[in-house]
Amino acid sequence: MTQPPDPHPRQKASATLAGDQPAQSAEIRRGLEGVVAGDTAISDVDGQRCQLIYRGYPIDALAGRASYEEVSYLLLYGALPTRSQLADWSRELASRRILDPPLPAILQQLPPHADPMALLRSAVSLLGLYDPKAEEESLEAVRRKAVTVIASTPTIVATLWRLRTGGRALPPKSGLSHAANFLWMLLGTEPTEQQASALDAYFTLLADHGFNASTFTARTVTGTKADYYSAIVAAIGSLKGPLHGAANRKAMEMLLEIGTAEQVEPYVQRMLTDHKRFMGFGHRVYKGEDPRAKHLKRIAHALGQASGEMKWFAISERLQEVVWEAKRLSINVDFYSASLLHYLGIPTELFTTMFACARMAGWSAHVIEQAGDNRLIRPLARYVGPHNLPFVPLEHRAPS
Ligand code: SDX
Repeated sequence: MTQPPDPHPRQKASATLAGDQPAQSAEIRRGLEGVVAGDTAISDVDGQRCQLIYRGYPIDALAGRASYEEVSYLLLYGALPTRSQLADWSRELASRRILDPPLPAILQQLPPHADPMALLRSAVSLLGLYDPKAEEESLEAVRRKAVTVIASTPTIVATLWRLRTGGRALPPKSGLSHAANFLWMLLGTEPTEQQASALDAYFTLLADHGFNASTFTARTVTGTKADYYSAIVAAIGSLKGPLHGAANRKAMEMLLEIGTAEQVEPYVQRMLTDHKRFMGFGHRVYKGEDPRAKHLKRIAHALGQASGEMKWFAISERLQEVVWEAKRLSINVDFYSASLLHYLGIPTELFTTMFACARMAGWSAHVIEQAGDNRLIRPLARYVGPHNLPFVPLEHRAPS
């Protein structure tokens, strides 16, 4: 049997920029690490100073002080809303929180035990299918679509979970905030002020984060002038991965596996021996602690105290200490998100859909920004495969 050609024969280093083939000596930045791929005025992720800014406002000034309604408006429109603008925006979101037919009926037909992020990805795709103006490209049209998706994804997540667990879908309640309505629709009881504020702050802290993988995915799709729904569905797909949005769910599974603060050290030793990753730790950009983490830690601590069950916070805090001692690895946004969402009674399986609900505002803002000053996103690749192989017609090829 003829051997397949060596897939990576040594290539002459003299290749030139013929077509889109870069010189073989071109430096490859794997994962585009450290590559500045464009400008944005939406958020600044400062890895050296470990700071995050939304449209000029440090996240420390917004967390727990500006509602998700204010912050989603800020991200989409570039300025904090006046009181009347906020009232209008909140009314617009409230009006789009209810799912239009035939979506409720179709959601009942979806496989209830599928991965919640796969279900959300499919449901947003259905939103686009049933939007007669899905292909409209104007700024107003995209903002209209964005309102629908930002407002209705919590309804979709809560509805699908209640269908999965044998409950009936609960309609949103007028007068409840974006965050409070999600907790009502999911759990069937109105949240306390502390619970609603905690989820609202979570949504604000995760609303945007520069050119992270899922946002860059949305921008890449928008770069081809594809429609808004296609960009958001692609972003949901990217966020679904454990190196990105699913880390919060994996972090909770880690806490559940550890079980008690006393078991943290042996657990960490086993993880180090097995060269495994600690979910909720490390970051591609931040050289120190993720600036969102301290806010999430403070909120998780307060929720733990209110619940009377500090165990999950205690395990988290001990794990943060031991991993820092062992690997000098800092926590990221997903670490205390885990205990925070758990204390709110949100099922672990839904953690990444919570991240998606928050990030809908940022993704939408980046779609608008990319479309407003578009350039097709198309990097080069260095070809390392074979060259000039002789074609052998089928009849002369080996039978097996
Ligand atoms: C988010 O980009 C964003 O802004 C994303 C995000 C946002 O808001 O959109 O901030 C949200 O996705 C946060 C990250 C969530 N993911 C996790 O928590 C998964 C665990 N973390 C890692 O896999 C990792 O830290 C990444 C993916 C977050 C960053 O990885 P990099 O920059 O590619 O770093 P790397 O894999 O090259 O690691 C460098 C070194 C390695 O050591 P060596 O193998 O070279 O000896 O650090 C080690 C890694 O082994 N390391 C870890 C680790 N993260 C890095 N070791 C153990 N556990 C970890 N979590």
